[in-house]
Amino acid sequence: MSDKLIIFDTTLRDGEQSPGASMTREEKLRIARQLERLRVDVIEAGFAASSNGDFEAVKAIADAIKESTVCSLARANDRDISRAAEALKGARRARIHTFIATSELHMEKKLRMTREQVLEQARLAVRFARNLCADIEFSPEDGYRSDPDFLCRVLEAVIDEGATTLNIPDTVGYAIPELYGNFIRSLRERIPNADKAIWSVHCHNDLGMAVANSLAGVKIGGARQVECTINGLGERAGNCSLEEVVMAVKTRRDYFGLDLGIDTTQIVPASRMVAQTTGFVVQPNKAVVGANAFAHASGIHQDGVLKARDTYEIMRAEDVGWSANKIVLGKLSGRNAFKQRLQDLGIELESEAEVNAAFVRFKDLADRKSEIFDEDILALVADESVTQEQEHYRLLALSQQSEMGERPHARVTFAAGTQEFRTEADGNGPVDASLKAIESQLQTGAELLLYSVNAITSGSTESQGEVTVRLQLGGRVVNGVGADPDIVVASAKAYLAALNKLHSKAERVAAQG
Ligand code: KIV
Ligand code: ZN
Repeated sequence: MSDKLIIFDTTLRDGEQSPGASMTREEKLRIARQLERLRVDVIEAGFAASSNGDFEAVKAIADAIKESTVCSLARANDRDISRAAEALKGARRARIHTFIATSELHMEKKLRMTREQVLEQARLAVRFARNLCADIEFSPEDGYRSDPDFLCRVLEAVIDEGATTLNIPDTVGYAIPELYGNFIRSLRERIPNADKAIWSVHCHNDLGMAVANSLAGVKIGGARQVECTINGLGERAGNCSLEEVVMAVKTRRDYFGLDLGIDTTQIVPASRMVAQTTGFVVQPNKAVVGANAFAHASGIHQDGVLKARDTYEIMRAEDVGWSANKIVLGKLSGRNAFKQRLQDLGIELESEAEVNAAFVRFKDLADRKSEIFDEDILALVADESVTQEQEHYRLLALSQQSEMGERPHARVTFAAGTQEFRTEADGNGPVDASLKAIESQLQTGAELLLYSVNAITSGSTESQGEVTVRLQLGGRVVNGVGADPDIVVASAKAYLAALNKLHSKAERVAAQG
């Protein structure tokens, strides 16, 4: 048995399924490049057959990524599998991941298929896929709640057809570590051709045990692939978190005895990029990537850490990519220094025009904020991910008056395509007044589901505020993120960013007729 643990990242597919986390093709490409720098073994880039947008994103990632295997999900039918193969054509290493549900509940209520029909469809799908691609993963959806005897028959059949990885999802996050580990082990023991495939775990976090279950699947069950997402992103309570699994296996190598190909110093940059792109902020006390993960507040701990770090630290902050807040640039920094810093941070902007636009924003920020940190640059570039032509709504100016005891008033000027609007409104606070001013003009009717503000760099009131706004309209949920030293401006930017996402989706639908 191989002693390497394969890290399969599904941030761009299962992670993106989280309502509001949808990403543009450019955003996905940027994250895929960061995943490659992180050296994940497999990047699940999307579900090519699900939409033209997903197809294009998988294709762009397959064309760009050279080191990691690029994978597309596909239902167990010829059309989905052909679309996946088509999107993956340019990949240096490609994988098709096909799935069909095998639990009684899913087969009867969702698929309305008998066991024999599901078995046959799984077999035919893997046979078809294997003719298009050498690397085939098969997942029995809701596998953990499936009848083990039936599951054994399906898995044995798909290995016979050439599946190279077998993934056992705990689709609804129902498993308990010891039981899940034993489940995987018993499948591997019972299936005669089990050793012809790599076994994989895929756990959801509904009971907060996705990481523990995945590790049990590895330790007890003998799985050698873990499916996970950056920051544990994913629908409901999310997926197994990549950073936690990776650091558990690395820190407790004495227990797991497994090697990883991951460059752990890229973990925090990846975490920030995913949080800033999706607007799903990381809780401060989150293991590994939370702002407090390495902060020692109590006097006893601080004293211990100063005397010998390992008194209270089991990992080194720098090993996962935390850099002390460094002043990297200021208002006298030139374009070359800015470009160099982008390179050092592993940020590749698509074109010189994008670099120029980011540099203009950098200069503007440096005029208002004396110290520019890496985090500021990452936020600035995340803002730039909305390319000029996608940016239908743009904030041009904002002023507001607020005085204790008085009702705040805001004036906002923004562009919508080629038109310019000036609008004003009162509100309960300056943020409320600004968003109301925009809404009074556009009358989108979007419902505000979430509003949150975070300081981008800790320890100073000079920090930029990063605002996330989640809107719902017509059954669609989107997040918008905006950053600025002035949180009212950041809020207006975030609101317009969310409206841009709703707008670009509406345009795509209209264009498809
Ligand atoms: O959770 C799940 O069952 C999945 C499969 C499609 C692998 O995401
Ligand atoms: Zn899943």
